[in-house]
Amino acid sequence: MKTIIVENYQKLSAYAAEQIIKEVDGTDHAVLGLATGSTPVGTYEYLRNFPERFKGVTTFNLDEYIGLDKKDTNSYWTFMKEQLFNHVPFQENNIPDGNADDLKAECHRYEAQIRNSGGIDLQILGLGNNGHIGFNEPDTSFDSRTHVVDLSETTRQANARFFQSIDHVPTKAITMGIHTIMESKRILLLVSGKGKSDAVERLLNGRMTEDFPASILHHHPDVTVVIDQERVAGK
Ligand code: GLP
Repeated sequence: MKTIIVENYQKLSAYAAEQIIKEVDGTDHAVLGLATGSTPVGTYEYLRNFPERFKGVTTFNLDEYIGLDKKDTNSYWTFMKEQLFNHVPFQENNIPDGNADDLKAECHRYEAQIRNSGGIDLQILGLGNNGHIGFNEPDTSFDSRTHVVDLSETTRQANARFFQSIDHVPTKAITMGIHTIMESKRILLLVSGKGKSDAVERLLNGRMTEDFPASILHHHPDVTVVIDQERVAGK
């Protein structure tokens, strides 16, 4: 695992965006795995300046809440539209359908669609305070594929800032599984935000355990972790 510490959020965003552009440049078909949360917002803002680079690119998002309408301001579909998809013409954008009648079938369909696309070339990840990646909470099996999860109290609290109150935060989500994420050819884990210094310490120096999902990344052959020193140190 390669670790890069950058001074601040702006540098993290520029670094991530440049890696993404490098990945899609010179290919007529690339597959990107995208993340939500506050961390990639600056990266997406940067990418909005280069709409013409993404015409042949297919994207798969990591996760979606269950029970929110697609058009709800807090759905990840709306988030991605506002941050990126409304501004950059991709070939195809995919997000799990958190309102599917048969959620299990939706998980299978999403997995198959990733496989049929040829697999993810570059997956962007954020880091949850409790070590979650996507919405794979602590104690999720490292062998998991796209599945339905019960969101932990810590995660609901962390994400409550976007909702009217914690009672409005959904209790379930669909997420790519840990195994699904690990099949990506390259992974870029972006770490920014107050309160993440313990998670960073555990990621870099802790042992590999299902209790801390991001620890699996040590077993991937091509992972770069980018840490925003200023925000992680809480300055
Ligand atoms: C959510 C998302 C994760 C994201 C995490 C961290 O729970 N499902 O994919 O990495 O939040 O979010 P933030 O970047 O806002 O700290």
